[in-house]
Amino acid sequence: MQPKTSHKALLKWIDKMVALCEPDSVHWCDGSQTEADALFEKMIQAGSCVRLDAEKRPNSYLFRSDPRDVARVESKTFICSFNRDDAGPTNNWEEPRKMRRKMKGLFKGCMQGRTMYVIPFSMGPVGGPISKIGVELTDSPYVVVNMRIMARIGDPVLEALGNNEFFVPCMHSVGYPLTDGKEDVAWPCNPDNTYIVHFPEERTVVSYGSGYGGNALLGKKCFALRIASTMARDEGWLAEHMLILGIERKGRGKNYVAAAFPSACGKTNFAMMIPPKAIDDVRITCVGDDIAWIKPGEDGKLRAINPEAGFFGVAPGTSMQTNPNALLSCRRDSIFTNVALTEDGDVWWEGLTAQPPKKCIDWRGEEWTPESGRLAAHPNSRFTAPAENCPVIDENWENPEGVRIDSIIFGGRRSGDMPLVFQSFNWGHGVYLGATMSSQRTAAAEGKQGELRHDPMAMMPFCGYHMGDYFRHWIKMQRGLTESPRIFHVNWFRRDADGNFLWPGFGENLRPLLWIVKRSTGQASAKESPIGWIPRYDDMDWRGLEYSEEKFAELMRIDRKRFRMMTLEHEQLFLELFEHLPKEVIFERELLISRLL
Ligand code: GTP
Ligand code: SPV
Ligand code: MN
Repeated sequence: MQPKTSHKALLKWIDKMVALCEPDSVHWCDGSQTEADALFEKMIQAGSCVRLDAEKRPNSYLFRSDPRDVARVESKTFICSFNRDDAGPTNNWEEPRKMRRKMKGLFKGCMQGRTMYVIPFSMGPVGGPISKIGVELTDSPYVVVNMRIMARIGDPVLEALGNNEFFVPCMHSVGYPLTDGKEDVAWPCNPDNTYIVHFPEERTVVSYGSGYGGNALLGKKCFALRIASTMARDEGWLAEHMLILGIERKGRGKNYVAAAFPSACGKTNFAMMIPPKAIDDVRITCVGDDIAWIKPGEDGKLRAINPEAGFFGVAPGTSMQTNPNALLSCRRDSIFTNVALTEDGDVWWEGLTAQPPKKCIDWRGEEWTPESGRLAAHPNSRFTAPAENCPVIDENWENPEGVRIDSIIFGGRRSGDMPLVFQSFNWGHGVYLGATMSSQRTAAAEGKQGELRHDPMAMMPFCGYHMGDYFRHWIKMQRGLTESPRIFHVNWFRRDADGNFLWPGFGENLRPLLWIVKRSTGQASAKESPIGWIPRYDDMDWRGLEYSEEKFAELMRIDRKRFRMMTLEHEQLFLELFEHLPKEVIFERELLISRLL
């Protein structure tokens, strides 16, 4: 196919990659519906997806992955900076030249018998001042149709790229060449040779062997977080694992909030939650559910865009009760991966309905009944849905200048100790809260579920450089600002002695959010505690919810001894990062310890 650009560097790179990967053909993606329809048709023929019922789920498809390729693989994710020290102790590192050689070996002939798709994509509205362009080369049509939802792709992007604009080259292959007429499989992948590799200085990504989510949709975690965080450090902005929401209070105007929770810890839910019925004077709108690019504006205040154009959301647990807006977003025009298929051609997952279907086909493609004793949908099964389908998408979600951020929230999955909500004393203390975040592992990546691990700013798997430098960068960010957002910590997941959640969560999370926004605008009072400002019972809006003062006290309880012990864990992380750690976080730890005595 004829290249539609005369961008020399792009054409040269593609020529080189074609020579290396030896695809049968090259397809330049224009991003049109016609193109997507043809790709889906081809994939149906090949047996790699199912078209869902045209009435129940219009223009939607189901894919089942190889059971060995179901989540991000952090153990195979590398940051290949020239200097090992620049990747830091929390990233896997390999010498860039050595890694390039290794990748060259793997990619040699890896697209034989396949088409190479060229996907020009824009993270952020095309041509916007905060937006950036990438080009992904992939042999996976599944990646193409997902990228089409998750990013702006195709002709308009090529146009914006012009003849010499900067782009991030993103190379991807499932690593399953069809050499000498070898038969294809429904979900080609190469789990034994999976590598997700980043060259931060060169601003390039190379991914081999996996077709799933963040491993393969390279605009998302690889570019918009790992590469972008490095660019952000160099250029004075922030690329964060954060949702962005708007909150409009009758007579009080509108504010925007960004919140970092680790993978599968409730960003999608929080970003589009529906306020409790009794609180009828507040509206929540969604700007984004996973990634925020945050930059100081001309006025010296932080503004943020959602660089994505869709949601790649966790399916299990999503229902009309927990997150109606997410469910309505994937009502049509959506892709489902690793959920169950019902007899009437629709999808199902654990938690979608109280009553499971009597029979369905599970995520492995096998017959399933409620008696099967196994999950019908994989715990990390996902829907890919266009953001514009979201009933509460914010009117400014595509504003290229972004929205002004008034509050920043950090949160994790903490069954044991963290109270529902508290506010940092100041920016530096807020950075400390983010830096010392821990959360229980989820199915979004490999590893033991439920195990508590450090996840600074929810960026442990996504920071493209040394975590200590990242903290320093956060501290420095405040210096150029005329006013900085207030910083908070939340936890929806605290449990009582019997293991029940102490907090109802979901739409009820509006209550702590309201306190947060009021605090950020000087409209709510609070009480000082050793760990930060906390709401008194009467500082919270309890309209429509019976939640006793005693229970609230339990939910907010700060166990000084436990928190003192936690500072030892903070020290453990700090020791690891020691040489790059900003003094501020060390001082904050000292202050915290003294307040906890
Ligand atoms: P990534 O897309 O992996 O970055 O995750 P995310 O943070 O967007 O996760 P998501 O919102 O999809 O939530 C993951 C899981 O947490 C789902 O199973 C939800 O049902 C559950 N969850 C979300 N909010 C709450 C809450 O307030 N309380 C409780 N108990 N569970 C919640
Ligand atoms: C996450 O794991 O934080 C995700 C899903 O948002 S993935 O895109 O697969 O990384
Ligand atoms: Mn995420």
